[in-house]
Formats: sequence, C-alpha cells, structure tokens
Amino acid sequence: MAHTEIRSYLVRRGRTGPTSRAALERLWPVYGESELAAVLARPPRIVEIGFGMGEATALMAAAAPAAELLAVEVHPAGIAALLRRLEAADLTHVRIWHGDAVPVLEALPDGCLDEVRLFFPDPWPKARHAKRRLLRPSFAALLARVLAPGGFLHLATDWPGYEEHAREALAGWTVVTDRRDRPVTGYERRAHRDGREVVDLVCHPPR
Ligand SMILES: C[S@@+](CC[C@H](N)C(=O)[O-])C[C@H]1O[C@@H](n2cnc3c(N)ncnc32)[C@H](O)[C@@H]1O
Repeated sequence: MAHTEIRSYLVRRGRTGPTSRAALERLWPVYGESELAAVLARPPRIVEIGFGMGEATALMAAAAPAAELLAVEVHPAGIAALLRRLEAADLTHVRIWHGDAVPVLEALPDGCLDEVRLFFPDPWPKARHAKRRLLRPSFAALLARVLAPGGFLHLATDWPGYEEHAREALAGWTVVTDRRDRPVTGYERRAHRDGREVVDLVCHPPR
C-alpha cells in the first residue's frame, strides 16, 4: 500500500491558541516553505521528520549553523513553537515544511541527503494500527533512494519492540546502536520518567 494512503499521524482537532497563531503569521513567511518547487530549487542536506515542539531541532541547528535543514511536522502548534525558538536563537538556516514528510521525500532527487532524523516516531503499538507506522519497507526504500553515499537515518525510540520492528523494516541496512549527540526533548524526558528505555539507531542503507 502506498504511503500516501495511510497516514502515520492523526490530524488533531482544536484551534491553535493566539500565541501560536501570532507566531505563525509573523514567522511562517521567514522560515516556512509552502511550495515543493522552492524546496527542490535548494534541496536540504538534512531532513527531520516529526519534530514535535522543535526542542531538538533548534538546539541541533544552533550547534551546526552550516547544516541545510528541512524540519517537517504536521501540527501547527509544534510549528509555531519551533518558529519562536528559531527566532529567539537567530537561526536562519532552517526551513520548515507543514505536512506529511512522505511526499516531500518522494519529490527529492536521488542521493541528496546526508541525514534523516526520526526521533520518537509514533509507535502505533496496537496490532491493528501497526500499518500506520512510518517506518516500513516502502519507506525504507524511499530513504535509501534519497540518502547520499555515507548518509544515514538516525532513529530514536522509547517504545519496547520498536527496535525490532525497525530492524525488520530496514532489512539489508547496517543498523548500529549508538549514543549520538542528541538533545533530550520533553517527550524523551517523559519516557525516562515512565521507565522506558531509549534506543538510538544509526542506519546506513545497503549500497
Ligand atoms: C511522538 S512525537 C515526537 C516528537 C519529537 N520528535 C520529539 O522527540 O519530541 C511524533 C511526531 O511525529 C509527527 N509525525 C508523524 N508522522 C509524520 C509524518 N508523516 N510527517 C511529519 N510529521 C509526522 C507527529 O505529528 C508527532 O508530532
């Protein structure tokens, strides 16, 4: 089944608050990308999928000011939070895409990315929802196409069993457990508090 037919996220109901709305109005024109053509005119080197509230995104961007990063998220409140962080830190090398990461990756040329970041993808733990998991063989094939030689997927998960799921979806890849330098997010702090173990995997596609 094609990725676009099953979403890996839920569209949340409810309105964004006034602070988020103001940030979106003022800062989206600075950091936001609304046209695929504009993304393709200057393809990124790093894509972060599902940045949540953008904590890790902004800190990693501050630590690597030369990295060409496209940060992708579906939820406007998270986008507004990242916009505020980028403005506060005066970071100009991050672009944001609002929506599903899959069509963006599909549009990218072969071998253009050094890194794809997927930090704590929604685990969809119930068996009947497992098909919603972003990381599945067709997605692995898409990543393998867009990663440059030497490029890798950095995956972090706190969900028991997700590592095994990832290794299955990434059959043929070289997958190593790693502790890469990655800022801890609120989401991860909650996982620690609840006693879930966090695993970081660095995954190189088959060549
Ligand atoms: C569990 S949260 C983790 C957020 C963040 N990475 C962190 O570590 O705090 C997963 C996020 O991925 C986003 N997401 C899921 N599927 C996505 C997709 N196909 N494209 C873009 N974002 C997606 C969700 O909206 C959600 O915010």
